[in-house]
Amino acid sequence: MANRMILNETSYFGAGAVSAVVDEAKKRAFSKILVVTDPDLLKFGVTDKVTKLLTEAGLPFDVFSNVKANPTVACVKDGVEVFKKAAADSIVAVGGGSAMDTAKAIGIIVNNPEFADVVSLEGVADTKNPCVPIIAVPTTAGTAAEVTINYVITDEEKKRKFVCVDPHDIPIVAVVDSDMMSTMPKGLTAATGMDALTHAIEGYTTLAAWELTDMLHLKAIEIIGRSLRKAVANDPEGREGMALGQYVAGMGFSNVGLGVVHGMAHPLGAFYDTPHGIANAVLLPYVMEYNAEYTGDKFKYIAEAMGVDTSGMDQQAYRKAAVDAVRQLSKDVGIPEKLREIGVKEEDLQALSESAFADVCTGGNPRPCTVESILEIYKKAF
Ligand SMILES: NC(=O)c1ccc[n+]([C@@H]2O[C@H](COP(=O)([O-])OP(=O)(O)OC[C@H]3O[C@@H](n4cnc5c(N)ncnc54)[C@H](O)[C@@H]3O)[C@@H](O)[C@H]2O)c1
Ligand SMILES: [Fe+2]
Repeated sequence: MANRMILNETSYFGAGAVSAVVDEAKKRAFSKILVVTDPDLLKFGVTDKVTKLLTEAGLPFDVFSNVKANPTVACVKDGVEVFKKAAADSIVAVGGGSAMDTAKAIGIIVNNPEFADVVSLEGVADTKNPCVPIIAVPTTAGTAAEVTINYVITDEEKKRKFVCVDPHDIPIVAVVDSDMMSTMPKGLTAATGMDALTHAIEGYTTLAAWELTDMLHLKAIEIIGRSLRKAVANDPEGREGMALGQYVAGMGFSNVGLGVVHGMAHPLGAFYDTPHGIANAVLLPYVMEYNAEYTGDKFKYIAEAMGVDTSGMDQQAYRKAAVDAVRQLSKDVGIPEKLREIGVKEEDLQALSESAFADVCTGGNPRPCTVESILEIYKKAF
């Protein structure tokens, strides 16, 4: 079977890159833009860094900010109505995964109205048309939603987070500017950064991984491994590293999928509104232990990318070293070790396991999973 790679048409990197939004919007003759963002980003003046540029350039726009973290079906439906009322023809998404994912869902439904119920977009939906053109400006360094063909929406009624995979949703332009991320508090920097590390490790070991994506994921692990502690300390070099590292991971995992860390993290988001990065970070070392025997020599390269000298180590030793390096990084950036510390309830573990088993990401895990094996991992992590 052929391997497929889908990436942005154009992407920009580096502190100050955000000014490219104006050039791109003009070059692409956008006549009316809907800026999709969230209320906190408006409040902290992050969205302003983009809207100021649009105003100065005389580009007409409206703002839609009814996006909640772990965005819901209702947020998306609301956004579609606002897009239509604004008579917009394009979207500039300014935010983390939540704002960018909402923007993708809005853009898909506007051009594929038969999916207006939102929930029918779950999995690989057969949309006929590319979404409205999106310029994505990430403000967190984690999800890489600016370069992925996925978006994740929460069905509040059914208490489920569902993943949508659709090449039609990819933003045409990504503007990855570490200055947009500099206002992130420590905890958010750590959580989103550990999401990026999880993408890199799950993408590297997922069933569909191949040489080209291995190259991206290993590089991402290396960049994130050396940058995350510094980013949490708000060091500009660390911020730049994380902005790039999370994007490189996105180039990979978007094209090959993830594994059961994400499968198990999604129900935590749906049940308890757990921040996505925290859910992944707590689960990652436990799932690595579960997967180790099914990953050949890959944990050796993970350990090395994380800065461990593996010379003289046998397989068991380098596998343990990879998990230890991940645990240490997680600890250093202040992530709790156990699910019980982040509000997970023991009596929910069975229901969480059933939901995780049904998640789109779980099928990509290198070691096969059952509801029972997932429950065991949850218990260990509890
Ligand atoms: N599309 C994908 O491929 C993909 C991949 C992984 C995760 N996700 C999804 O993305 C969502 C999580 O996104 P996220 O982790 O980026 O967080 P988020 O977008 O949910 O944002 C979390 C909070 O951080 C605030 N924030 C964001 N940037 C900030 C900044 N620069 N300064 C201060 N505050 C800021 C937001 O206002 C919000 O309150 C989840 O729903 C997850 O499932 C999507
Ligand atoms: Fe993620």
